[in-house]
Parts: sequence; structure tokens; C-alpha cells
Amino acid sequence: MSTRIDPRLMAEGRRTRGALYLSIGLGVVAALLVIVQAVLLARVVNGVVFKGQTLGVVAPLLWGLAGLFLLRAGLTYASEVVAFRAAGAIKTYLRQELLGHILRRGPVPAAGENSADLASTMIEGVEALEPYFSRYVPQMALVVAVPLAILALVFPLDWISGLILLVTGPLIPVFMVFVGYRAEAINQRQWQKLLLMSSHFLDVLQGITTLKLFGRARDEIEIVARISDDYRKTTMAGVRIAFLTSAALEFFSSLAIALVAVIFGVRLLHGHINFFPAFLVLLLAPEYFVPLRGLSTYYHARMTAIAAARRIFEVLDAPVATAGTQVMPGAAGLEICCESLRFSYSGGENVLDGLSCVFPAGKITALVGPSGAGKTTLARVLLGFVRPEQGTVRINGTVDLASLAPEAWWESLAWVPQTPRLFHGSIAANLRLGRAQAGLDELREAARKARALEFIEALPQGFETVIGDLGQGLSGGQVQRIALARAFLKDPKLLILDEATANLDMESEALVLDAILDLAVGRTVIMIAHRLAMAERADQIVVLQAGRVAECGTPAALRDSGGLYAAMRSAGREEAEDLSCAI
Ligand SMILES: Nc1ncnc2c1ncn2[C@@H]1O[C@H](COP(=O)(O)OP(=O)(O)OP(=O)(O)O)[C@@H](O)[C@H]1O
Ligand SMILES: [Mg+2]
Repeated sequence: MSTRIDPRLMAEGRRTRGALYLSIGLGVVAALLVIVQAVLLARVVNGVVFKGQTLGVVAPLLWGLAGLFLLRAGLTYASEVVAFRAAGAIKTYLRQELLGHILRRGPVPAAGENSADLASTMIEGVEALEPYFSRYVPQMALVVAVPLAILALVFPLDWISGLILLVTGPLIPVFMVFVGYRAEAINQRQWQKLLLMSSHFLDVLQGITTLKLFGRARDEIEIVARISDDYRKTTMAGVRIAFLTSAALEFFSSLAIALVAVIFGVRLLHGHINFFPAFLVLLLAPEYFVPLRGLSTYYHARMTAIAAARRIFEVLDAPVATAGTQVMPGAAGLEICCESLRFSYSGGENVLDGLSCVFPAGKITALVGPSGAGKTTLARVLLGFVRPEQGTVRINGTVDLASLAPEAWWESLAWVPQTPRLFHGSIAANLRLGRAQAGLDELREAARKARALEFIEALPQGFETVIGDLGQGLSGGQVQRIALARAFLKDPKLLILDEATANLDMESEALVLDAILDLAVGRTVIMIAHRLAMAERADQIVVLQAGRVAECGTPAALRDSGGLYAAMRSAGREEAEDLSCAI
């Protein structure tokens, strides 16, 4: 499997091809200078010890050595800086791609995915790629270039040592591939455990109130401890393998160098060989193994990167619902026509099961039906977040929703979900998500229409009051009204509301309903409603049941038809009566 990830990672690397090649080139030159350095050193020693040369004679060589040393340091430094820059550029690019993809895909997670997992993939996962590009890839070039260059020099000097190096060198990569299989499985497992740990931790943090109230906080601490311990064990298994690998590599290379040294020693004693070639080969033998040994360290980086990259590519490969490029039709109103929509979440049973209906332009349609009937799912299809498996959504009779560019579509609609999301920042900033350039007067006007002005102005800093991530400091109904004000500001052609008044008391609900009716003028409105009092105010009601349209018509027509809607109404009335009796 890893063989398929490597080419893809390298394809990502190609985006900064110039920088990577430059870094590899600088690194290779720096490494090859070691050979020149060894030749100079061997000459100095040979000259001083065996030829009786004075310092004056060897001085240029010594200067040369010092110069080489500085040059190598400079080249290595430059190579690393360039490599880190290249890796940084790749990381930024991948993070942007991931975020863009997640945003385009919308809020429906793929199977087995959650936000903590996505966050870890985007932060730690992408981070884990850095050593791959900044270390492993340049090292691969050294592994090929340096030993070959050394062999080319050593063979003419002394073929016996050349042969020893030639035979022992490849043992190292072979051995590493051998342990690599096992290490790769461990790495994959370690990455999955890390994801599990972060998603569990996020769950605990988000559910902290519930956990505390149910007295389960202590149990959770134990679970987190168990997961962490599990993670520690996998990490230790990885560390053990890394340690064993490097110990074995040290052993092989020391053995080979010792062999070369002993054979030289014997031959020198018998006068079969001169000092200069013997000494030079001895200096070069350890250098021959340096890149190979480095490879083992960076091989670990490669495996971590591959485990992380697999997840990154999985996210990037997940299909995006709407991906067309056509621009929105410029018509004033939007009529939306759903034709035989069929959809299921990750292969389960059909949540939309041949659903057909029309949302007329400039009219309010209420979408009602039992819980689980597929109302929210239909809204997601209309928003372009999920693509129906069958059927089409046609806009103004001609344009297929699937062929539209998602940004263009989203531009023309506003969506108020069941639990709207506010972001950390001032109320004004949250409202301006609806329209970035809106002035304070426009904010006030939108807030007034959404029946939110009064409570906003009562806050200590009014519109500049900073609210927490999940709208902390505001009640559910207040959050809902800010979300409505945001929709007002956006001035959309299509407004989709999912139980927008679910968190409100009766009085605010009536106010907000009035506000929605104000906003609805001249727009297409789809209003998912639990409370039928809201549906009664619509121009048309669509009753969904088990993913199909059970009934469709004006409120009056449905009331009289004696169908599902009439039954829901009388059930609702009984409930209300029960409630008033109980009070
Ligand atoms: N993200 C999801 N992944 C898998 N199944 C889902 C997902 N969202 C909804 N479902 C399932 O699809 C079915 C329809 O859900 P949907 O949310 O569309 O119903 P609904 O009509 O909006 O219900 P409610 O009135 O309770 O909000 C349900 O059985 C639900 O369990
Ligand atoms: Mg719903």
C-alpha cells in the first residue's frame, strides 16, 4: 500500500520542485566534498609522516581543508533551509486544500469521520509530512550518490576494500525493508490511536456538563487514561523497532569498517600496499555508511508520513456534493423543483425515497412530517451539501443544481439551521457574516426585523459584545434570532429555515414568525416546522413521510382532506390541551 502513497506524496512535492531539487543538489555537493576532504587529509598525513614534508609544504593543503570545512557547513545549512522552506510550502498548500475540501463538502461527515479526527489530520497529520520532505527525500538522494562516488574512488585504489563495501552496503537497505514491514503496521496503528485519543478527548470536553451531571467525570478520566496508555504502548513498540534497527545497522557498518581495517593492517605489515591508499580508504569507509545509517532514521519519518498521508488523501478523495461550474441564472425569483430524489447515508436505507415536489418562486412552503421523515436531509440536498443518488433538483425549470458552482448557489440563499452556529467574536462580526460591508444602521435594522435589537442593545457593549464559540453568554432563543438577523442581512433569494423557532417561547416564536413573514416577501422560503401553528401561515404545506411526499397543498386544503396533516393537527391539539390541563 505504501508504494501507492509515495508517488502521491512526491506529486505533492512537485509543486515546489525547484526548491526540493536545489536542496538535494546542495546536500549532495556537501556530502561529496567529504571525499575531497578525505583525499586532502590523507595527503597531508602521508606527506608529513612518510615523505618528511614540512608544515610550509603542506600548508596550502591545510588551508584547503579549512576552506572545505566551512564550505560544507555553509552548503549543508543552505540545503536544510531550502528543504524546510519547501516542506513548509507543501504543508501550507495541503492545509489549504484540506480546509477547502472540507468546506466545499459541507457539514455532512463521511462515514466514521468526526471533527476531532479532521482537526488532527489537518494539524498533526500535515505536520508529520515535514520530515518526509525536509529529511527523507534529500537523504534518499545522498544514499544513492555518496556510496556510489566512494565506491568509484575506492575500487581503483584497492579492489578488495571496494568489494567489502559493495557487499556490506546493500545489506543495510535490505535489512531495513525487512523490519520496515513490521514497523509500518505499528505506525499505522499508532496514528489511528492518536486520532481516537483526540476525538475522544474532544467528546469529553464538549459533553463536560452532561458528564458531570451524570457523575461520570471520573469514569471518563479512566477511559482517557486507558486510551493514552494504549497509545504509549504502541509508541514504545515503534521505539523498540527503531532502536533494534539502528543497533543492527551500527553493528553491520562497524563490522565492515573493522574488516577493511584488519585486512589493510595485515597487508601493510607485509608491505603489500602503500600507506596513502590504505589510509584514504579507511577515512572513506565510515563516510560510505553515514548516509545509509541516516536512512534508517529518516525511514521512520517516511513511515509516519505515510500513515498520516493515507488519512489526508482519504479526506481529499471524499466526494464533494456539488462541484459544477455553471453560474446562477439571473432571474428575480427562484422556483425549485425536486424530481424523484433518492438518497441514503453511507449505503443505509433510503432516507429520501423517490421524493418529488415543487417550491414555487416567491412563496412560503412549510415542510412538516414526523421525526426522521427526511426533512433536514432534503434541506441538505437543496443546499448542495449532499448529492442525491437519483433524481434532480431543477431551478427555474432549466438549471440542474448539480451543474451549479456551489459558491454561486450559496451566494443566493440563506440557511438558518436548528442549532445555528455563532463564532467567537463580536455580535456585529457575527452578523456581518451575512454581508461583510453592512454598516451599523443596517445591522440595527436587521436585528430589529429579527426581533433581536432589544436584547442586543441591553448587552453591556451592545453590538460590540464579544460572545464565546458556541454563543456562550446567550440563550438558545437569542442565538436563533441573531442567526435570523444574519439571514436578513444577506438578502437572499432563497431562505431555508430548519425549525428556526424551536428554541423560542410562544411569545418570541410569534414575533419571529412575523419577522420571517416580513422577510419572505418576494423570496422563496422553505420552512421546516415542528409546530403546526407556523405551517398554518405558509402558502403551501408539503407533508413528508418516510422520505416521500405524503400530501401537498394549501393549509386549508390539507386541513379538510382528512389525511396525515389533519391527523397531526388533531394530535397536536390534544397535546396542547393535555398541557393546558396539566397547568
Ligand atoms: N449524517 C447522517 N448520517 C447518517 N444518517 C443520518 C444522518 N443524518 C440523518 N440521518 C438519518 O436519516 C433519517 C432522516 O433524518 P432527517 O434528519 O432528515 O430527519 P428529519 O425529518 O429532519 O427529523 P427531525 O424532525 O427529527 O429533525 C433519520 O433516520 C436519521 O437517523
Ligand atoms: Mg431535522
